[in-house]
Amino acid sequence: MDYKDFGLVNTKKIFADAIARHYAVPAFNFYNMETLSAIIAAARDTHSPVILAVSESALKYMGDDLLRGMIWGLNLHDRDAVTLHLDHGSSFEACVHAIEIGFSSVMIDGSKLPFDANVNLARTVAEYAHKYDVSTEAELGILAGIEDETTHSTTSSYTNPDDVVNFVNATGIDSLAIAIGTSHGAYKRKSDDEELRFDILDAIAKQLPDFPLVLHGASSIPQHFVQTINEYGGKMTNARGIAPEQLRRATQKNICKINVDSDSRLAFTAGVRETLATKPENFNPRDYLGLGRKNIYDNCVDEIKNIMGSDNKI
Ligand code: G3H
Ligand code: 13P
Ligand code: ZN
Repeated sequence: MDYKDFGLVNTKKIFADAIARHYAVPAFNFYNMETLSAIIAAARDTHSPVILAVSESALKYMGDDLLRGMIWGLNLHDRDAVTLHLDHGSSFEACVHAIEIGFSSVMIDGSKLPFDANVNLARTVAEYAHKYDVSTEAELGILAGIEDETTHSTTSSYTNPDDVVNFVNATGIDSLAIAIGTSHGAYKRKSDDEELRFDILDAIAKQLPDFPLVLHGASSIPQHFVQTINEYGGKMTNARGIAPEQLRRATQKNICKINVDSDSRLAFTAGVRETLATKPENFNPRDYLGLGRKNIYDNCVDEIKNIMGSDNKI
């Protein structure tokens, strides 16, 4: 299946524009109809390019055919600037499979491998993907936190700026995810004062001017959702994200893709908890899923405008 038949695009043009105009393309994770429809509506209403990110576990949850049916149902055209991206692909086979079913971009995550093995894996994937005009992202450095239902890193290491040119040249990848202090999940920071390592970002950008860089683990963990969750029976003490000002600052460097999953999870959970708690007699899933979906929509619009700066870019 050729992704162009879905009206999808790879990341080449959208990243070139993002770098030239200093904004980031949002990569929002989805895993069902509600999350997908909220994200696409937010992107369309703000005239923003968008990367629809699907983890391996989310793909397994939806199933290939249902996912393809939903993408088909979006009635995309390439002027919509929508990319379907495999997030944290764990093997060459997972990337091949994604490309076969219509993804226009894949991430091969060899970040926990030794440098040479990471290079070899990323090069193999990039060579294969490029035959189909599919973009490839790889990662150098290790983020802390939960990356996938099956992997949880407790250690992290920043990307070494001295490695990046070698890595990009040896692999032929189209974008590079770097570790500068972000982490996956809802518990990223001990205090609001913790800063990302902009010195490392500057050093990497200096080595790789005009090359697309990616930030994973970049949810800002909006506190109003955390409060709603806790007010209605949840227990998420000390959930804290990356300050929006720091993310905006990163978009002024070469960060042209910002990954957000946890914020949508919080938004959705807040809506479901609030509806169930305030309307205990209600048992219509469209009501509680509906508020979850609306919360994701509102949050994506807000982040597109106030963090990514990607509104009105198409
Ligand atoms: O960074 C990865 C995402 O948050 C995916 O998580 O495997 O639970 O869908 P998941
Ligand atoms: P968050 O957990 O910060 O939303 O990160 C998501 C991510 O990096 C997906 O790849
Ligand atoms: Zn990630």
